[in-house]
Amino acid sequence: MTRETPAPLIDPFGRAVKYLRVSVTDRCDLRCVYCMAEDMSFLPKAEVLTLEELDRLCSAFVRLGTRKLRLTGGEPLVRRDVMQLIRRLGRHVKADDLDELTLTTNGTMLFKHAAGLFDAGVRRINVSLDTLDPHKFQAITRWGKLDKILGGIQAAKEAGLAVKINCVALKGVNDDEIHRMVAWCGHEGFDLTFIEVMPMGDIGEGARYDQYWPLTHLRAELETRWTLEDSDHRTGGPARYVRVRETGQRVGFITPLTHNFCESCNRVRLTCTGTLYMCLGQEDAADLRAPLRMSDDDGHLIDAVRAAIARKPKGHDFIINRQTNGPAVSRHMSVTGG
Ligand code: 5AD
Ligand code: SF4
Repeated sequence: MTRETPAPLIDPFGRAVKYLRVSVTDRCDLRCVYCMAEDMSFLPKAEVLTLEELDRLCSAFVRLGTRKLRLTGGEPLVRRDVMQLIRRLGRHVKADDLDELTLTTNGTMLFKHAAGLFDAGVRRINVSLDTLDPHKFQAITRWGKLDKILGGIQAAKEAGLAVKINCVALKGVNDDEIHRMVAWCGHEGFDLTFIEVMPMGDIGEGARYDQYWPLTHLRAELETRWTLEDSDHRTGGPARYVRVRETGQRVGFITPLTHNFCESCNRVRLTCTGTLYMCLGQEDAADLRAPLRMSDDDGHLIDAVRAAIARKPKGHDFIINRQTNGPAVSRHMSVTGG
């Protein structure tokens, strides 16, 4: 049987949209201080797409030319039966309709799911880890136990998954640990990406500007100890990479506040309620849940996706405002999933 190939998704600025990030839940088993307030209220279950609906939506994007799927949250692995979804989506990798199925996780459930992820066709994961100090880890995540995450990361490594560590740079919190992070990742064979803290969502602390640490400063500090060689490695994402000569591993920098990376943006983000955000830094969004639920065939859905991509903006507009210290975008990171 021949399958007709629909026209790929191209936005008004000529960028092909080939990368879909999907938040499969807004819930998380941690409460990182830069991400969530301690007493978060989460979406009622009825609002959230079922696993079957998520599969249908992702599969529609794959048919429209999406080559990379990243599951995020909240914490994707706390969603009940999420491995069923991951195995279903893995069929697209196995059929060569998708280059990569991956996820961003906080690592708490990796000890349980690492091998299953590999079997499903996942080959790389990003694990968020801002510190190697158990006390600081607990202070940053409020509820986390570092040992469990480190055990999960080892399980991932043993299962054959490539691991990239995401580390949010926080002034006065983990700024004294960056050399240790580079050394540890070098030793373990993990790439490492430093992320500038972004102004997203009300986290109830008001201290965000105090934690802002420009990565230009972080990089200058790294260069006192390590030889950073320019690398033209690109993942199609916002990170710029260097290679650390001493360890051979890559270190990336994501600087949403100090640099503009929108020209090469190839991605859109879907929330667990079926809302599509065309840009992380803009409020405009399209509801895909209604067209999805309107009928069993994907006609309405695909029309809605195309209409949304036709509105993808040229770029974002983040600023941390010194006066108000408030978020530039009011939704939490756990809604759109980084
Ligand atoms: N600024 C920067 N990074 C954030 N993350 C969550 N909230 C923020 C924020 N306000 C990171 C997490 C994880 C990724 C999904 O996003 O640490 O690495
Ligand atoms: Fe959970 Fe990730 Fe937010 Fe931390 S940053 S609370 S691990 S979603």
